[in-house]
Amino acid sequence: MTDSLSRVLVVVPTYNERESLPIALERLAQHVPQADVLVVDDGSPDGTGEIAEKLAEAEQGPRTIGVLHRAGKQGLGTAYVAGFGWALERGYDVVVEMDADGSHRAQDLPRILAAVGGADLVLGSRWVPGGEVVNWPVSRLVLSRGANLYTRVALGIPVKDATGGFRAYRASLLRTLSLRDVASQGYCFQIDMVWRAVKQGARVVEVPITFVERELGASKMSRSIIVEALVSVTRWGIAERSRRLAGAFHKRSR
Ligand code: GDD
Ligand code: MN
Repeated sequence: MTDSLSRVLVVVPTYNERESLPIALERLAQHVPQADVLVVDDGSPDGTGEIAEKLAEAEQGPRTIGVLHRAGKQGLGTAYVAGFGWALERGYDVVVEMDADGSHRAQDLPRILAAVGGADLVLGSRWVPGGEVVNWPVSRLVLSRGANLYTRVALGIPVKDATGGFRAYRASLLRTLSLRDVASQGYCFQIDMVWRAVKQGARVVEVPITFVERELGASKMSRSIIVEALVSVTRWGIAERSRRLAGAFHKRSR
């Protein structure tokens, strides 16, 4: 962590996670008891929002649990933007992204937080040495490796796992990333944020994690989420190349 006084908020987006959320919050209490939590629920039909409220009320400390209710499923990206705004308004120093379904292990979080001491953005990474994925079908492995390869080539960045959703940001970085302009609704939000950070010259590091496929509930990955990511990354890559070309042309014509 940056120092022992750092205030950490873990933002956990939820959509139909009634079985998983209580377990995830319990594990966080075990492994990072000092970190506050914000659940961002999109009006889950299964009642996850109400469960989150009950857990927040029953919380004995030292942490506090907040709950943000949004009307209907609006996407992971917009859920995080709302959560980040909430965190910045309240003066947190470090903001963590974490799935509710148990795939991101709370026991890996202390290592991620320790790395924030020397970085602005720490990515929990499945695709660096020591990182791994447990129980994913081949189709998801191929999708993740393919998406990350495409991202590396299209954007020209060395990041191995730009799509993962277990990471920690310094609040000072988040304040510079123009969160109001973020248009990414789905999981391409993760790539969007890495790309914004790299363009800012932020120090981005990857820390190996073990990603464990959920046992309860279902993934919200969809065809439209994949299409949005493909279109967005292609657009960002083209924009970057034209920027560089224009820069080179400008230099030569001087
Ligand atoms: N509030 C809200 N709104 N939460 C959402 C939404 C939404 O529209 N869509 C998904 N979530 C929540 C889920 O409830 C879960 O807590 C978390 O976001 C991740 O969703 P999953 O559906 O479990 O994702 P996954 O396991 O298939 O996806 C994995 O790959 C993604 C792309 O690489 C994870 O590693 C993600 O973190 C990653 O972004
Ligand atoms: Mn999941």
